[in-house]
Amino acid sequence: MIPFSVVLLAGGIGSRMKTTIPKQFLHIQQKPIASYSFDLFLSLPEIEEIIVVCESSYQSLFVAPTNKRLLFANPGERRQDSVHNGIQLLEGNPLVCIHDSARPLIEVDSVRQVVNAAAKWNAATLAVPVYTTIKMCDEANSIIQTVDRSCLWEAQTPQVVRLNTLKQGLKYAQAHQLTVTDDVSLVELIGQSAKIIQGKMNNIKVTTLEDLYYVQWLIETCSHTN
Ligand code: C5P
Repeated sequence: MIPFSVVLLAGGIGSRMKTTIPKQFLHIQQKPIASYSFDLFLSLPEIEEIIVVCESSYQSLFVAPTNKRLLFANPGERRQDSVHNGIQLLEGNPLVCIHDSARPLIEVDSVRQVVNAAAKWNAATLAVPVYTTIKMCDEANSIIQTVDRSCLWEAQTPQVVRLNTLKQGLKYAQAHQLTVTDDVSLVELIGQSAKIIQGKMNNIKVTTLEDLYYVQWLIETCSHTN
């Protein structure tokens, strides 16, 4: 087991969901969505440190045993700003595992696979193959190109990157005023490579109400069959 630190992102406002509280704090089976991945990370003996990025009013939802270091960072305007704030507090292991708390169905074996890959290759993400046909369009929705899907992957989290590489990527993005939507993009920006580890289709990010119902169904179905 390779030790690593965790930055759990729970600082988004979930504007696409149009709910009064951010999507990661909606409850499924009396438990906030963000607590599912938080509890999973806490259950891993190789984790000593977890930074949760969230508004102060939600901090009390996260409680850790005394043998784990739990700290809170303030959310930034963009996802990458939240990552920036989170990594400032890291003291422990330089292998940083960043996870979207809106993905409650992450599993231990996937986490360990992506951590092992990053330990070997510097950066790695979970991802799933794209099975749909993807069209590239112009502003008038006329098709420019059908993208060859055989080499397309949909990125998930966790994404695991060495702290130094992450800092370099964030610095580059800031200097060039670039916005990225995931962490390995920062690695790509500085010309370094990141590996893909095939994840599970169930590890979806709750973004829409339909996603919420689907994840709810998956969680309820699993708890009935366990
Ligand atoms: O917006 P999106 O769904 O891509 O957000 C992914 C994750 O990043 C969510 O868990 C969200 O709470 C978090 N986030 C954040 N700070 C932001 C934007 C998003 O912590 N400024």
